[in-house]
Amino acid sequence: MGPCKGHVRGFIFWIILIVGFAQPNNGDLSYSVPEELKEGTVFGNIAKDLGVSVKGLRDRKARIDTDSNDKRFCNLKDGELVVLERIDREELCGSQPSCSLNYELVLENPLELHRIFMQIEDINDNAPRFPNSEIKLEISESAVKGARFPLGEAHDADVGRNAIQSYSLEKNDYFSLAAHSGSDGGKYSELILEKELDREQQEEVALLLTAIDGGTPQRSGTALLRVTVLDVNDNLPVFSQSVYTTNLDENSPEGTKVITVTATDADEGANGEISYEFSRISDKTAKIFSIDKVTGEITVAGVIDYEEKKIHELRVQAKDGAGLVSHAKVNIDVIDVNDNAPAIQIKSLNVPIPENVAPGTEVGIINVQDKDTGGNRQVRCSIQQNVPFKLNPSIKNYYTLVTTAELDRELLAEYNVTITATDEGSPPLSSSKTIHLYLSDVNDNPPVFEEQSYSAYVSENNKPGSSVCSVSARDPDWRQNGTVFYSLLPSEVNGVALSSYLSINGDTGVIHAVRAFDYEQFRSFKVQVVARDNGSPPLSSNVTVSVFITDENDNSPQILYPTPEGNSFMTEMVPKAALSGSLLSKVIAVDADSGQNAWLSYQIVKSTDPGLFTIGLHSGEIRAQRDISESDSMKQNLVISVKDNGQPSLSTTCAVYLVISDNLAEVPELKDMSYEENNSKLTSYLIIALVSVSTFFLTFIILIIAVRLCHRRKPRLLFDGAVAIPSAYLPPNYADVDGTGTLRSTYNYDAYMTTGSRTSDFKFVTSYNDNTLPSATTLKRSPGDNSECLNFTSLDFTDTASKCSTLIKFK
Ligand SMILES: *[C@@H]1O[C@H](CO)[C@@H](O)[C@H](O)[C@H]1NC(C)=O
Ligand SMILES: *[C@@H]1O[C@H](CO)[C@@H](O)[C@H](O)[C@H]1NC(C)=O
Ligand SMILES: *[C@@H]1O[C@H](CO)[C@@H](O)[C@H](O)[C@H]1NC(C)=O
Repeated sequence: MGPCKGHVRGFIFWIILIVGFAQPNNGDLSYSVPEELKEGTVFGNIAKDLGVSVKGLRDRKARIDTDSNDKRFCNLKDGELVVLERIDREELCGSQPSCSLNYELVLENPLELHRIFMQIEDINDNAPRFPNSEIKLEISESAVKGARFPLGEAHDADVGRNAIQSYSLEKNDYFSLAAHSGSDGGKYSELILEKELDREQQEEVALLLTAIDGGTPQRSGTALLRVTVLDVNDNLPVFSQSVYTTNLDENSPEGTKVITVTATDADEGANGEISYEFSRISDKTAKIFSIDKVTGEITVAGVIDYEEKKIHELRVQAKDGAGLVSHAKVNIDVIDVNDNAPAIQIKSLNVPIPENVAPGTEVGIINVQDKDTGGNRQVRCSIQQNVPFKLNPSIKNYYTLVTTAELDRELLAEYNVTITATDEGSPPLSSSKTIHLYLSDVNDNPPVFEEQSYSAYVSENNKPGSSVCSVSARDPDWRQNGTVFYSLLPSEVNGVALSSYLSINGDTGVIHAVRAFDYEQFRSFKVQVVARDNGSPPLSSNVTVSVFITDENDNSPQILYPTPEGNSFMTEMVPKAALSGSLLSKVIAVDADSGQNAWLSYQIVKSTDPGLFTIGLHSGEIRAQRDISESDSMKQNLVISVKDNGQPSLSTTCAVYLVISDNLAEVPELKDMSYEENNSKLTSYLIIALVSVSTFFLTFIILIIAVRLCHRRKPRLLFDGAVAIPSAYLPPNYADVDGTGTLRSTYNYDAYMTTGSRTSDFKFVTSYNDNTLPSATTLKRSPGDNSECLNFTSLDFTDTASKCSTLIKFK
């Protein structure tokens, strides 16, 4: 087998081998044996090389000895050298370039010693190998093109050509590979950056690195080159949107999430750590929103008021660890919430309102505003129903308040009008305002007396200055328009100015008597009281006050008959034959007072012969109590008291002289009959009176007898006759002051009188009636002609409108 394989080294070996053979005396044998031969493989022929036959070798006990205890890798078999055990050159010699095994061939008989060199030839049985299957490399992304990064060395147990010859790198964009031989002969590789790295594009570059040896067949080993691109803060944070837009309800509570802004930073670590904050923000807005530094969440931190700001524009910035900053805008549209009640403003108010304004008069202008928007801003305005005002919508959100009816301050002087404004939000908000409207007075009410008419009753003889009555009128108007002054309407009473009778207190309406009244002078009168207010122009009204003077018992009875005047006295003749009960005389008295005060009663207080005469208590008729007898004294004197029924009662006395005689001539001592002193004048008067009365009486009797004879069928009329009391008998002041002759019935009364005639009595009655007139002859009266009655007018105290005021009725 040819040891030389055509390689340079092999060639050298072959030369050495030839040289070795050329020195046979050394008897050394040299063989080149490739490693890794199979067991039993023959690699040399000793027999042939030594020129000894196989038999000769066997005979000479040829054997191979080792120097020491070295392991024997070959053996001698039939003159041939065979591989005894697998030979691993790398195990035997490592990386030494030459590797040989030395053995000795021993031949005996004769002893011959030959050295055998076994040159172990390398075969490429090992592949290159990297120390780690993965090579980690960190390269900053900022590394510039051309930068070199040495890589570790791969290892190949083989030597020489079988060792690593070159490296190759997987094809890629970034790196190329350069190989260098180190001083120790090893081959290194270097990574050359061909294209700049961008961590953000490719964080890691993994490449297969291959080491190739030069053996045949060629072997290679690979490792994974893992290039980690180290970050450089070369990236700005980037917001997910450049403008964020969101809506936010107004009045959102604090802490309400508004929006979250997010920014990303392609960088790593601190370079990619983003913090958020507001940039360029007004102080006001800064109080309303806050942003979470870490999460970018914007929350409400203050009061969101739509009415204050409808859109908030925030600028946010994101900053990475190295301070690179980018910005974004956040637009927050605030959504209106109906949180503003309408505001009512009173723009003008014309108060006080004169009470006489016409319906429809404008009294105020109201403005209503709502700060909200849309429906929340639509406002309806109203006032309560029961007032005479209404709201009229005017321009825009103005309303006018107008009256709807006539106003009357005296009925209702003030109104509280509540204006309610409600918006159309949901829920609606409303507000209200109360305005105080009050009316000013107009003098539209005249004073009104509390009564339709007044009656005052005043006792006569009142004290001047005493109050008679009081009138009062009301005027509901205000202040001077309602201030009432009283006055009396000037007039005359009985021809005298009213003011001399009455006065009125202008303020109080109390009417005073100016002087004392006399019932006997006049009994009533009327006066008009005017109440006038102080307005301008003033209003007034009037009322009638009827003043009635009431009677007092201030007049004592007056005797009409027998006449007390003068000192002359009258003597009544009493027939001697007068029987018991016969009417002898009559006392006639009157009283100027009226009623009870004029109710007269008669009494005999003194008499010559008590028991002989009686007097009618009320009639004043003097009658015989018993038959007159001869024995009775001819002269009889009676003192009669006439008393009225007043309280206290007043009385008068008079004397009546009676002569019991049938013949005037029998009365010689008339003088003696007087209790009083006599003088001749009086006596003569008395005689004249006596004579006249007697004559009158006789004439009367004759007349009566004559009448009786003519009218037998009417014997009762014998003494009938009309007696006219001369008006001179009446009290002087019996005039009726009441022009109409009208007096209230309470003041009516009957007057009772007696006549001097013993045969007649008469009575004044209150009414006149034809039926009561017994005879046309006694009282002539024709309708429409009252002449015959006129004599009695002065006695008429009735209230009838009788044509003839008085009737004298005869019994
Ligand atoms: C109006 O309101 C005022 C004040 O509240 C009150 O004094 C007055 O009595 C009210 N008037 C009416 C008519 O209700
Ligand atoms: C009285 O009424 C008049 C109008 O008639 C008015 O001008 C005046 O102001 C009123 N006086 C008072 C005090 O109200
Ligand atoms: C008194 O009042 C009446 C109506 O009540 C009126 O007709 C009359 O003129 C008044 N008289 C005076 C004097 O004012």
